[in-house]
Amino acid sequence: MTLLNATSLSHAFDYPLFEDISLTLNAGESIAIVGVSGSGKSTLLHILSSLLQPNSGRVELFGNDIYTLSDTALVDLRRDDLGLIYQSHYLFKGFSAYENLEVAAILAHQSIDEALLVRLGIENVIRQKVTELSGGQQQRVSIARVLSKKPRLIFADEPTGNLDHATALEVMDIFDDYLKQHQAAMILVTHDESLAARCTHIYRMQNGSLRES
Ligand SMILES: Nc1ncnc2c1ncn2[C@@H]1O[C@H](COP(=O)(O)OP(=O)(O)OP(=O)(O)O)[C@@H](O)[C@H]1O
Ligand SMILES: [Mg+2]
Repeated sequence: MTLLNATSLSHAFDYPLFEDISLTLNAGESIAIVGVSGSGKSTLLHILSSLLQPNSGRVELFGNDIYTLSDTALVDLRRDDLGLIYQSHYLFKGFSAYENLEVAAILAHQSIDEALLVRLGIENVIRQKVTELSGGQQQRVSIARVLSKKPRLIFADEPTGNLDHATALEVMDIFDDYLKQHQAAMILVTHDESLAARCTHIYRMQNGSLRES
């Protein structure tokens, strides 16, 4: 089943960033996007994940042409079906890590997966305030928060950038298991070729185009 279908995406800020990018993602699959810093990976991820309307082209998620949806329909889709893990973690700073998970779980009518917290190695720090956690711990809380929502599509921008390699590999295992278990799919932006190699497809952003490699 196709969960994401992007056709002929082009975008420019001060200068053209990329042109004519098309991409399809099926349930159970993952796509890694690699490319040098500044090549437009995060911008593409924002476009695919409903946060930025492209200059041209179309993004269909679950068969909906998302940039033609009403604002409320788009908010519902984001809340119920999309898991966004970005370079800056959007955790509520005044709350504990656990409260952050609770908010996400309640909004999505899901429960918190305690076994996941153990697997991520954050079960002992989960009662602390977000601001008291290390960067890597905050990153793992963000991952737990997103998976607690049980999204069908995960968009992750360098989700393991603050983690040591062994922990990063464990996070990849967690993503793999999640995708299989829930017939979900993921787009992962990474600079780490060994993590990219774990995905079903690898795409390279280069000279304004995206090519499978
Ligand atoms: N909101 C914006 N307004 C203007 N220019 C932007 C905006 N967002 C990104 N850019 C520009 O677009 C280019 C690509 O940025 P982007 O964040 O997509 O790169 P990236 O491939 O994710 O890089 P990195 O690997 O460093 O995260 C950069 O030159 C950046 O300055
Ligand atoms: Mg980026």
